[in-house]
Amino acid sequence: MKPVILVLGGVSPALKERLSESFEAVFYNDLEQPAAYLEQEGGRFSGLFTNAGVAAPDEIVDQLPNLQVISSIGVGFEKFNQDKLQPRKIRLSCTPDVLTDCVADLAMALVLDCGRRLSAGDRYVRAGHWGQQPFALGRQVSHKTLGILGMGRIGLAIAKRAEAFNMTVVYHNRQQRTDCAYEYKDSVASLAQAADYLVVAVTGGPATENLVDAKALEALGPDGYLINISRGTVVDEPALVTALQRGTIAGAGLDVYVHEPQVPDALKSLENVVLLPHIGSATQETRQAMANLAFDNLQHFYAQGEVLTPVPWAVYDD
Ligand code: 8YV
Repeated sequence: MKPVILVLGGVSPALKERLSESFEAVFYNDLEQPAAYLEQEGGRFSGLFTNAGVAAPDEIVDQLPNLQVISSIGVGFEKFNQDKLQPRKIRLSCTPDVLTDCVADLAMALVLDCGRRLSAGDRYVRAGHWGQQPFALGRQVSHKTLGILGMGRIGLAIAKRAEAFNMTVVYHNRQQRTDCAYEYKDSVASLAQAADYLVVAVTGGPATENLVDAKALEALGPDGYLINISRGTVVDEPALVTALQRGTIAGAGLDVYVHEPQVPDALKSLENVVLLPHIGSATQETRQAMANLAFDNLQHFYAQGEVLTPVPWAVYDD
């Protein structure tokens, strides 16, 4: 008998087929009356397949009394409710490492776009302004200082790329790393002060909420750029809007927002900000690798009782 799993969120036709081959998979988005269905059938499900954005809403977890494992596509897991899952010893896996390079690539792309005004240049050409009006000069990227907030796997990958641009890398982290030689700054404000480009690469969740606040933005200063490829919640969004409007920072490159997919109109109306729709991991190769790992996590659990890449707080002795 195949394990019975519930699949939340959108999945590609290929992944749908793959999941249906190995599991008795029910796709939540295809259900006409999901709550009523789970009321009847919820007890049959032992697995949940989801992603970092959708996570596992409490009301759904409550309808699955025999849930043992959740496999999530994505490296972030801040939306999962530890207080709900831990007491029931529900395994939870995510997909680290496989997306590191693509997210770091995107961070550098935003650094370059902010400094060298790529998106602005594209708008200018399409609008027919070339030859009609001047295009404002950008700022150099190479030989500048890149500040990295959060020196984890993704932070390190960004640092490596910045080195190839002859940038000076400085960082702030919960703890100073003993395994890298980059200069450590002991506060977000002192990091911002030193940085020409400040890249946010910490994990999301309550511990990092509004870590980049008005004070940090002030420290970044009128020549500094903020890049966020982590979570919108890490940056005080209203303070960022004010800083961009007043020119107290030079600009920003954002892939993430507080209330996705909503992007504040105030940001959309500004020229000094590059806005992306949360695409850090969104390449065919990486999304495939993430889906594969999430699939393998489920299979491994049903074969061996453990997932391959567990979330640290969802590891149990028994
Ligand atoms: C994706 C992400 O948006 O990995 C994460 O935590 O935020 C992104 O890679 C998402 O998880 C894909 O479902």
